[in-house]
Amino acid sequence: MVATTPFPTARPRTTDRLVRLVEDVREVVGRGLPPDLTAFLVGERLAPHLGAADLLLDEHREGDPRRYRQHLLHAEADGGFSIVALVWLPGQSTSVHDHVSWCVTGVHQGEEHERRYRLLPASGPDGRARLVAGEDVVNPCGSVSGFAPPGDIHRVWNGGSGKAVSLHVYGADVSRLGTSVRRVYDLPADR
Ligand SMILES: [Fe+2]
Repeated sequence: MVATTPFPTARPRTTDRLVRLVEDVREVVGRGLPPDLTAFLVGERLAPHLGAADLLLDEHREGDPRRYRQHLLHAEADGGFSIVALVWLPGQSTSVHDHVSWCVTGVHQGEEHERRYRLLPASGPDGRARLVAGEDVVNPCGSVSGFAPPGDIHRVWNGGSGKAVSLHVYGADVSRLGTSVRRVYDLPADR
């Protein structure tokens, strides 16, 4: 997701349930499996926690009227993974982007809308690459999806009428990078 605001250096406050989730993710990542398998297994560990009232603190669910907001929940000391909560007010959206690592997303509250894209190389008279959109997907509360580069170009937005909150696990240290985005795509899209 797109967020380049530096994180505070203090250790994030947490909950018992988040501590258990971190332990579960650490066990999976420690197996050293390929990225797509890691993402699948992390998704299995994340799913049971989604929607639980004791997963997040109130401060993790605070939005920002200017743009969707990212809260760092955990950054593993060795940089192997990090977990963030994203808070979306109605209508807030990312750019079209891809990611620096494998990624697992789970909807904790509300629903998220997603459109995935394929990148077609430069061709034709204008010599520009372009994006081809796939189906629009609505991810309801409790749903999990995982992916690994390449082929992970998408845009996400809150198309509902209430707040949406999702958890994201990345195979990178987002607290150090400031963002999970590898590239933002400002290209012609077919819709
Ligand atoms: Fe993303």
